[in-house]
Amino acid sequence: MKQTVTSIQKAKGNRKLTMITAYDGLFGKLFDDEVDFILVGDSLNMSFAGNSDTLSIGINEMIYHTNAVCNGAKNTFIICDMPFGTYVDKKIAFKNARKVYRKTQADAVKIEGGKSKAKIIKYLTENSIAVVGHIGLMPQNVKAEGGYKIKGKDEQNIQSLVNDALAVEKAGVFLLVVEGVKSEAAKAITDAVSIPVIGIGAGVDTDGQVLVWSDMFGFFEEFKPKFVRQYLDGAKMIKNGLKQYIEDVETKKFPSNSEIY
Ligand code: KIV
Repeated sequence: MKQTVTSIQKAKGNRKLTMITAYDGLFGKLFDDEVDFILVGDSLNMSFAGNSDTLSIGINEMIYHTNAVCNGAKNTFIICDMPFGTYVDKKIAFKNARKVYRKTQADAVKIEGGKSKAKIIKYLTENSIAVVGHIGLMPQNVKAEGGYKIKGKDEQNIQSLVNDALAVEKAGVFLLVVEGVKSEAAKAITDAVSIPVIGIGAGVDTDGQVLVWSDMFGFFEEFKPKFVRQYLDGAKMIKNGLKQYIEDVETKKFPSNSEIY
């Protein structure tokens, strides 16, 4: 059954939530009715479009991909990532979030940032936008921070992450993604807030997990983060299938009599 912002709250402390990314209708359909949420992540700028970070994708591209996923996944709660630069102030954020609602069937948007984004998030939630927070390692900060830096390594930083989580919870997010933090930090955040926390590279104590589909199924070969569990060797499967196809064409085994008109 499709989740709602209210049914999601009830999961906290009762069962683990699952989220996966998708970027198109084909995979949206494969994942539909299986996971609690599908995230149309701006990670698509890397794993789908082949760029080296998430920064260059715009709102129109996110809308295009979100529409494709919504077409495939009609029974799953869908979250559209707000790309870099589309929520620099509350008015710009609302204009872009409204565009997502106007042009897609997405159920919510996701925004990277803690305390510093709380006012913007509050404005969105007060104006009926369902917002998912995202704290910890925030890929949109890659250039500003000079790389992807794991967070929550000392008490002070853990406290600052907890403060971020509390600030975005107070601003109205109904769900929080915590990425790339030490497990102790993820646990402290999960214990501190009353909304469900979804972890990625954040240990086992969060209320659920999210993975990027092309990482977990072994299609993205550029690099494999430590936290990814690879459930399939997708790249190998595709390459083997492709080799077989080429061989079948070259040896005239394809098409066979049953495959012609
Ligand atoms: O863009 C994305 O896929 C994400 C996940 C890594 C949480 O934000």
